[in-house]
Amino acid sequence: MDEKIYSVAVDGPSGAGKSTLAKAAAARLGIVYVDTGAIYRSIGYAVFRRGLDPKDAAVTSVLPELTIEMRYGTDGLQRMYLNGEDVTEEIRRPEISLYASGVSAIGEVRAFLLQMQRDLAKKSSVIMDGRDIGTVVLPDADVKIYLTASVEMRAKRRMLELEQRGTPQPFDEVLRQIEDRDWADMHRDVAPLRQAEDAVVVDTSSLDFEESLDRLLTVIREGLTH
Ligand code: DC
Repeated sequence: MDEKIYSVAVDGPSGAGKSTLAKAAAARLGIVYVDTGAIYRSIGYAVFRRGLDPKDAAVTSVLPELTIEMRYGTDGLQRMYLNGEDVTEEIRRPEISLYASGVSAIGEVRAFLLQMQRDLAKKSSVIMDGRDIGTVVLPDADVKIYLTASVEMRAKRRMLELEQRGTPQPFDEVLRQIEDRDWADMHRDVAPLRQAEDAVVVDTSSLDFEESLDRLLTVIREGLTH
């Protein structure tokens, strides 16, 4: 790769494999992986801890009290800090997903986080995943990918992930949660999840991990040479 800083935006619905694939692609390309969902989760977690309803406008009044930082460990992995406290593990709890989704629908929350995300992409080459990266955060990203998979496949994968984490849940419940989150993420007024016009769609429904990663890397390399 040359010295030029470049950015890759990866958007798509929950459970399409964005974070696992983007993380692996970043390692292959030697660039920084930014998981923007973790930033929304950190705000969601702060709101949860304060006992607030994540959809309540009162969430906005909490924002000035929050310092959200992203630091990279010696393993190169992203860790999240909320007012100096490492919350990397806590924000993955299933109940925090709903809080993250709730706060992410509030315009002030999105505005609060916008510059932070843009600054990360100015400092070094990044592959950034989220819902509005190609449409709002980095509209000039060098490569835009819309990563998706069928809802059943996403629920199956999420179920396995929860099992491995020791917090199993029945398939029907996982499916319903994914459908609910899709609906909320796609129908909110501010920055709803949608495919950027210039994004390349990668559907991983019938691809395994290696095939999906190959496809992603091919799209990125092709995008960077055009
Ligand atoms: O990717 P994730 O499941 O960790 O994201 C958690 C929530 O944050 C999800 O419901 C959508 C929201 N989100 C968002 O609105 N915009 C982003 N760029 C990233 C995540």
